[in-house]
Amino acid sequence: MENISKCLPINGTDYVEFYVGNAKQAAHFYQSAFGFQPIAFAGLETGLTDRVSYVLKQDKITFVLTGALTPDSEVAVHHKKHGDGVKVIALWVDDATKAFEDTTSKGAEVDFEPITKSDDNGKVVLSSIKTYGETVHTFVERKDYNGIFMPGFIEWKPEYQPEDTGLLYVDHIVGNVDWNEMDKVASYYRDVMGFEQLISFDDKDISTEFTALKSKVMANDNMRIKFPINEPAKGKKKSQVEEYLDFYMGSGPQHLALATDDIVATIDALRKRGVDFLHVPDTYYDNITDRIGEIDEDIEVLKRNKILIDRDDKGYLLQLFSKPVEDRPTFFFEIIQRKNAVSFGKGNFQALFEAIELEQQSRGTL
Ligand code: FE2
Repeated sequence: MENISKCLPINGTDYVEFYVGNAKQAAHFYQSAFGFQPIAFAGLETGLTDRVSYVLKQDKITFVLTGALTPDSEVAVHHKKHGDGVKVIALWVDDATKAFEDTTSKGAEVDFEPITKSDDNGKVVLSSIKTYGETVHTFVERKDYNGIFMPGFIEWKPEYQPEDTGLLYVDHIVGNVDWNEMDKVASYYRDVMGFEQLISFDDKDISTEFTALKSKVMANDNMRIKFPINEPAKGKKKSQVEEYLDFYMGSGPQHLALATDDIVATIDALRKRGVDFLHVPDTYYDNITDRIGEIDEDIEVLKRNKILIDRDDKGYLLQLFSKPVEDRPTFFFEIIQRKNAVSFGKGNFQALFEAIELEQQSRGTL
């Protein structure tokens, strides 16, 4: 008999697809500012009539930037409501049909049924289920495919190929969900995907004088997929999660954490190329070694680059958060370097919240 608690086999994040207002310009931003390499394209030239997609890659991270060609395109409708944001968190599996059957039989809502796409380089099987908000998980089976991305895309090789910034893979993807939705979404990942809960925080752990949040971290069995799920908690003022929900018009992906093995070089490169990060006050580094102990890096170098440090019982991590990367104060990036730590920087949430409150104050949304 099948063990129902068994985790859905997932090899890793396949790609992350953003629905944006202008895919051509967004693709340029990810090339010039983040150092992603152009890989593939689909649009009018490949027979699409309602959308265009640019595919970019940096080491194991693949982004798809998709924009609408017509006002009634699903992409345009999504963009009108949410602004630029993540629509698809695609998961790399060995069997997309089985992944679909497993998850839908346990209650996942269907986004689309399994479909096989073929070209001269082989075939890719795709299927897709819904998750929080209007976000979807597309299962991608690519073991019989040798092309650059997937059938339906052509190679995109412009002369402009800026240097990378040392980003390696997706470490985790955080979802912000509506009031009282966190437990429901966490149960969805447990019951439908077989994920386990790694950690939970509540407003006693993460709050300032003004704002608070609750969070549960759900992960698959090989730990390549980690989805912290946040919901707002009552505070004196509006929290960053509430601000997100107001501007994204509901639940959606809040941030993508991208891993590097040299965070000082990566942050330096990103800053020089125009990526804005949250302000970290100098006082954050006062007595920092008392809190986190000895580390390999020079504290002065971390202080100069405004990089945050946190420790758990396995090791420590270095991290920093960008400002939102689109017009609405919604989605942002985290850059993370793990030195054996498996946690998410809870010790930094206080400093982070205070920094975000300053930003909210300047937007008039606190
Ligand atoms: Fe994070």
